[in-house]
Amino acid sequence: MSGVDLRTDLAGMALPNPVLLASGTCGYGTELEPFVDLTGLGGIVAKSLTLEPRTGNPPQRITETPSGMLNAISLENVGVEAFLREKLPALPAILPVIASCFGTEIEQYGEVCKRLDASRVAGIEINASCPHVKAGGIEFGQDPQLLGGLVRACRAATRKPLLIKLSPNVTSIAEMARVCEAEGADGVALINAVQAMWVDVEARRPVLHNVLGGLSGPAIAPIALRMVWQVAQAVRIPVCGIGGIHGAREAIAFLLCGASAVQVGTASYAHPGIAAEIRDGIAAYCAAHGFAAARDLVGALEAPA
Ligand SMILES: Cc1cc2nc3c(=O)[nH]c(=O)nc-3n(C[C@H](O)[C@H](O)[C@H](O)COP(=O)(O)O)c2cc1C
Repeated sequence: MSGVDLRTDLAGMALPNPVLLASGTCGYGTELEPFVDLTGLGGIVAKSLTLEPRTGNPPQRITETPSGMLNAISLENVGVEAFLREKLPALPAILPVIASCFGTEIEQYGEVCKRLDASRVAGIEINASCPHVKAGGIEFGQDPQLLGGLVRACRAATRKPLLIKLSPNVTSIAEMARVCEAEGADGVALINAVQAMWVDVEARRPVLHNVLGGLSGPAIAPIALRMVWQVAQAVRIPVCGIGGIHGAREAIAFLLCGASAVQVGTASYAHPGIAAEIRDGIAAYCAAHGFAAARDLVGALEAPA
């Protein structure tokens, strides 16, 4: 559209445009194929993978709140081997696929990375931030020392571009990003869902069986934007912005705050074609404001000193 160059580089991955689908909200990609031309996207981040197949939490594990979606799926997935055998080959070869990796122990993360390393995935995103699993995930993402050890182990296990997905449920997200950079991560992705809960007052019970879940959707965009801004100031590695993006305006805001690319999550549930519309909206904005390339928007916020 309009001759605007949408190509971007995210942590060493050459992407056709800066709009990707977020992990856990696009399955393994194929589920969306009837609704979306995946080849028009910047890429997808597939559902987080564990070493062995995993069933998630019992229901109820997802609910709407007046301010967004609350989920506690708890990383149900087919496991890394079935992903490599069945899911990845079913996707168009030109689509950049980032695999997401999860474990309850650091060694498991390392092993999943090793197996993905030999595949055609464009990169690996480490889920160090799931807000509703009993072990792993958020624990790693909330403690700088554990996070450092996790990044070191994953770095040793793969030469693929390595993104670390950070938790918003921390005091200083900039500190966490610095730890990732120091341990050799190629980039950071933020944010995962915000830890939250919701209550059925008639039943006087938490709505989710797991009690705690992760809040996602438009309500968290300002939180995510603030964190992307802080992280972009704190590290030199690229940042991928995630959280509540439901239109081109939010995506552009993330780019201006320093994100090299963005991921769209919850918005795809209501409108599976939204990511392509956001891509076109970014191109239209660039054309209207005299930017030849979308990457010229990255960090172009004119903030008071
Ligand atoms: C139903 C659901 C499942 C998710 N599963 C994963 C997952 O497997 N791995 C992961 O890193 N993030 C997962 N997320 C978090 C999203 O990738 C994203 O970080 C978060 O929802 C914030 O973005 P959004 O507001 O655009 O949805 C999940 C989110 C939802 C709503």
